[in-house]
Amino acid sequence: MSVLAAALHLRAAVVSDASRLARLAEHVGGTWNEARFAGSLGGTATGWVIDAAGPAAGASGPAADCLRPAIAAAILLQAAPDDWEVLDLAVVPVCQRQGLARLLLSHACETAAAAGAARLVLEVRAGNLRAQAVYAAAGFREVARRRGYYAAGGGSPTEDAIVMALQL
Ligand SMILES: CC(C)(COP(=O)(O)OP(=O)(O)OC[C@H]1O[C@@H](n2cnc3c(N)ncnc32)[C@H](O)[C@@H]1OP(=O)(O)O)[C@@H](O)C(=O)NCCC(=O)NCCS
Repeated sequence: MSVLAAALHLRAAVVSDASRLARLAEHVGGTWNEARFAGSLGGTATGWVIDAAGPAAGASGPAADCLRPAIAAAILLQAAPDDWEVLDLAVVPVCQRQGLARLLLSHACETAAAAGAARLVLEVRAGNLRAQAVYAAAGFREVARRRGYYAAGGGSPTEDAIVMALQL
């Protein structure tokens, strides 16, 4: 674990994190907005965030929201009996390449395995080689390719999805 990871605080994501998660997504070119984060965390998704530990970290409510610092990294998952799916993984650029994604993936693996899941699965854009390298380093392997899975938009053509899986 890096010095940075050791100094930060890993906790469960909650619905009131939605606006900060949306800001994190903006920083890394993600497509999820606040409503989508809130809907997922208020529904069946589960997740963890890494933010700086502080007096407000365990509190809740609007005042605690103002005090709580920005989120440095987050992972969102959809739990199912066999396969847990990674819905989103992001690390703010200034904190990248310091092991935060590895830490979140490792925590997700441990939790999914303890819950009896057989695999962690995910879809990643074929062009997102950096994320594929992160997943490969964590032990994920490509198991399928979905042609034209990501719709065209913002001047970019459709893009294939690589399906990756990690046996737990
Ligand atoms: C992908 C992302 C989450 C990685 O986060 P990170 O905290 O920088 O990753 P880590 O530091 O934990 O990297 C773990 C390992 O992955 C590999 N890796 C990480 N970044 C890499 C890169 N740019 N190129 C090649 N391999 C890389 C390395 O093996 C690394 O271990 P090492 O640093 O000891 O060599 C981050 O870059 C990000 O938020 N990207 C934008 C959003 C995104 O693409 N999310 C995934 C959507 S499917």
